[in-house]
Amino acid sequence: MTHPIDWAAIRRDFPILNQQVHGRPLVYLDNAATSQKPRQVLDALMSYYNSDNSNVHRGIHELSNRATAAYEGARKRAAKFLNAKSAKEIVFTRGTTEAINLVANTWGAANLKAGDKILLTEMEHHSNIVPWQMIAQRTGAQLAYVPVKNDEGELDLEQLDKVLTPEVKIFSMVHISNTLGTINPVKELCAKAHAVGAVTLVDAAQSAGHCMVDVQDIGCDFLALSGHKICGPTGIGLLYGRAELLEAMPPYQGGGEMIASVGFFETTYNVIPHKFEAGTPDISGVVGLHAAMDYLDSIGREEIFRHDQELASYAYSRLADIPHIRLFGPPLEKKDGKTISNRAGLVSFVFPEVHAHDVVTMTDQYGVALRGGHHCNQPLMRKLGVPSTARASFYFYNTHEEVDLMIDALAEIQKFFSRGI
Ligand SMILES: Cc1ncc(COP(=O)(O)O)c(C=O)c1O
Repeated sequence: MTHPIDWAAIRRDFPILNQQVHGRPLVYLDNAATSQKPRQVLDALMSYYNSDNSNVHRGIHELSNRATAAYEGARKRAAKFLNAKSAKEIVFTRGTTEAINLVANTWGAANLKAGDKILLTEMEHHSNIVPWQMIAQRTGAQLAYVPVKNDEGELDLEQLDKVLTPEVKIFSMVHISNTLGTINPVKELCAKAHAVGAVTLVDAAQSAGHCMVDVQDIGCDFLALSGHKICGPTGIGLLYGRAELLEAMPPYQGGGEMIASVGFFETTYNVIPHKFEAGTPDISGVVGLHAAMDYLDSIGREEIFRHDQELASYAYSRLADIPHIRLFGPPLEKKDGKTISNRAGLVSFVFPEVHAHDVVTMTDQYGVALRGGHHCNQPLMRKLGVPSTARASFYFYNTHEEVDLMIDALAEIQKFFSRGI
């Protein structure tokens, strides 16, 4: 028998949430930028530094053995978290950005040439655009994009066949859009890409901590995520890569740890995944990431997804009642008398003639932390014809009352700007 989840008790795991900002209770709705950390993660970091801190893979002494066991144990945990076949398919990186740069600079440099195409979507974060532009300039490959249809933020899959041609060598796609909340059909997109012989990369920065992400089920070749968005520390993330591909790829950076043997004039490289992890890694970050994965799975990622989606739908429906507001991403739909939603846990919006920065600066005065800006989606913003949006992004510790506080703050702001709206 499953027990209902005590979300209020879970919220108490996050000491940071229990504070006032500008004299009001903090309402933290900027989770797509970074999530807060539960005390279980903070305790794991403290315990590592208090008891086990040492360098990995080098020492023979007890502390080094413990640090190495913790580091490699986290790799096995990450493989389980993503249902990868083997821990050797997990490369620790600084985050999603570094993971994508790693693929562009190693796989891309070895496999792309003039005439080849790199396929992206129009809703990519800059971290899944700029590394590809840079490698395109070096190799002569060209970029192509799957269009986004309109404000509702779906990919125009009717155009897919036109852009997914045999020249495409890699299709790199975001799983959940950080601006639109769109959930892309990554399993279907990977299958279509493989049918033309392309390799696939999934940017799971916004999905890995919010829903089940199973690399074997999705069928992707690479997947990138950031620890800080899934309750882990900043500065740590990972790249999943299919073993055959990682084995065939040249190394990323040179230095200690990534070598088998070094001579004055030549080096042989370590086996995967160590070949891609030059230098002393972020050991405490990896320990914190392990604790974060344990923490999320102790709640259940399906439960987290249901919670966030429900809260975002509630927020969407309350925002939709505000006059003159423009909302982005998949709308709520009515089916058999029920409201259904195919969106993830965030909502972006704009008010005409009020810059998103002003909206967010003012909500801050009410203790409500939103994000305003281009969200590292400048090409998408241009396509939507807006310089920026305000964004509320939710996590499992947020509540309906917090959504109501945000709506109250927005109503006050609207009153203030009423001549402009
Ligand atoms: C969809 C998406 N991809 C990539 C990134 C980059 O993540 P990081 O800055 O942690 O490398 C983000 C961060 O906001 C994101 O939302």
